[in-house]
Formats: sequence, C-alpha cells, structure tokens
Amino acid sequence: MTSTHAIEQEAPAATAAPSPILTVDGYSGGFGRGEDYRPVLHEVSFTVARGELTAVVGETGSGKSLTAMSILGIQPPAFVRTGGRMEFAGRDLLGCGDQEMRTVRGRRISMVFQDARAALNPVFPVGTQLADVAKRHHGMSRALAREAAVEALRSVRIPEPGRRARQYPHEFSGGMAQRVMIAMALLCEPELLILDEPTTGLDVTIQAEIMDLITELGRSRGLSTLLITHDLGVVAETAQHVVVMRQGRVVETGTTAGLFLTPTDSYTRTLLAASRLEAKS
Ligand SMILES: Nc1ncnc2c1ncn2[C@@H]1O[C@H](COP(=O)(O)OP(=O)(O)OP(=O)(O)O)[C@@H](O)[C@H]1O
Ligand SMILES: [Mg+2]
Repeated sequence: MTSTHAIEQEAPAATAAPSPILTVDGYSGGFGRGEDYRPVLHEVSFTVARGELTAVVGETGSGKSLTAMSILGIQPPAFVRTGGRMEFAGRDLLGCGDQEMRTVRGRRISMVFQDARAALNPVFPVGTQLADVAKRHHGMSRALAREAAVEALRSVRIPEPGRRARQYPHEFSGGMAQRVMIAMALLCEPELLILDEPTTGLDVTIQAEIMDLITELGRSRGLSTLLITHDLGVVAETAQHVVVMRQGRVVETGTTAGLFLTPTDSYTRTLLAASRLEAKS
C-alpha cells in the first residue's frame, strides 16, 4: 500500500460545502450586431457563498457593472448574451420569464448603485419613498409602512429618523442618501445584496462609515453580499472572497487572505502594488 493511499483512507469524510447562493458560469456577451459585434464579457465565472461578502474588483470598463446588472436582468437592451448560465438559490436566472424576474428582483436580490441621490425621487419625502417600498413588498398598511420606513432609517444609523423621514432627498448629504438607499434595499429583506461602488464619490471618513455599516448589517442579518469596488483597502477590510476582473474576464478568484498573500495573476499583483503605494501616500 502506498503512503498516499493510507492518507486517503485515514482522511475524515469531507463535509459538503453549502451550495452558493449565486453561481455565474461562463457568462459571455457583447454589444452590436453582425460585423459590428464587440465582445465585452468573456466566460465570466464566479460564485457568491451564502452569508459571505464577495468583492469584485477591476479596472474601469472591465465588466463589473454589466455582470452585476445581468444578474438582475437590467443590463442595457443593446447587450447580446452569447453564452453562460446564472443560478440564484438553485433557480436558473437567465431562463426565468419577466414575471418571475420581477419577483426575484427587489424581493430576493436588491441592488444599490453608486449615485444614491439620482436613484431617489426628488419630489417625494424620503420616508414616503421608503414606505412605498414597504407597502409594495410586504403589503403593509400606510401606518405600518410609515413605521417600517422610520425603522429602516434607524437601522442604517440615521439620527432622528422620524424627522429625517419627512425630508426630501436634497436635504440629505451624499453619505446620508447612500444610507437611505441601503435602507431601501434592506426593506425588501433580500437574500442577496449587490452594491455597485456604493461609496465612490463620498469622502474617505464617510466611505469608511458606510462600509462599516454594510459589514455589520451583513453579519447581523446573515446577508450574502456582492460588492463591486475599485478599492482594495475596502476589500481587505470587508470581503471573504474576491473576484478580480480585467477586460471582461475573471483573471483570479479566491479568498481575500489568499489573494493578498499569494496572488497568482500578474494583473492582481499590479493592482495590489498600486493599492499599497496609494496607502503609503
Ligand atoms: N450601453 C452600452 N453600450 C455599449 N457598450 C457598453 C454599454 N455599457 C457598457 N459598455 C461597455 O462594456 C464594458 C464593461 O462596462 P462596465 O460598465 O461593466 O464596466 P465596469 O467594470 O463597471 O467599469 P467602471 O469601474 O468604470 O464602473 C465597457 O467596455 C463599456 O464600454
Ligand atoms: Mg461600473
């Protein structure tokens, strides 16, 4: 008997890892038709584990947002998918009809975009917009939805939530507006939260506060999160897993610790070196 065989026999039975909440497998596509077709995503594959935060990093134009939008079926209409599969909680996302997608979108997967104020309607108080979401998703009465809205503002640490609920979006700073968007996403009690550059454009202290909030909410609610960011510092602080994209391809995936300690891809090493230089300056 070889020693390898002996080791195999003695090894305890491996416990099956829980299935990922999201699987993106070989997702490909581009823009334009016929001779004008320009491929943009090339067999993008990664998973998001349940209850964990997975970060997607990569240079501008690498396909991060397009991939995220495709998960929700809100990619630009001109995008042509040429292959691949996406599965959410065991359900084929790309094959589901409009009706089913509407149920998944918002209720089971929520997304927060970069520019929070643009996503809020300027003519309605913030509390009214949150209450509308509560009414729509949970069928709450007006009074209950109103309470849920104030509670949602409190949960994202907005001071004086009762008063703030009566204010309009222009009365909120960028950081506060982003908290409102997170509150809105959480009101739907999603299983997967997608955040696309949620702190870009905010000042550094506010960025840190928002990331802190996202990490804590993720932990306390057992949320699975997909975070798109340029910032490797944020990745190091918050993510368990990282997906590195470049020019529409996934060039590396792994645990955050593994990626920072032993990056295998040369582009990942360049990214890490750049971010270390930035941290020093
Ligand atoms: N509506 C569109 N029509 C044509 N090309 C598009 C469209 N939207 C995105 N693209 C192209 O798809 C590619 C990926 O874009 P995407 O927005 O996903 O990049 P990203 O990684 O999110 O970049 P950033 O970090 O700047 O947000 C880019 O080359 C972009 O020019
Ligand atoms: Mg983007």
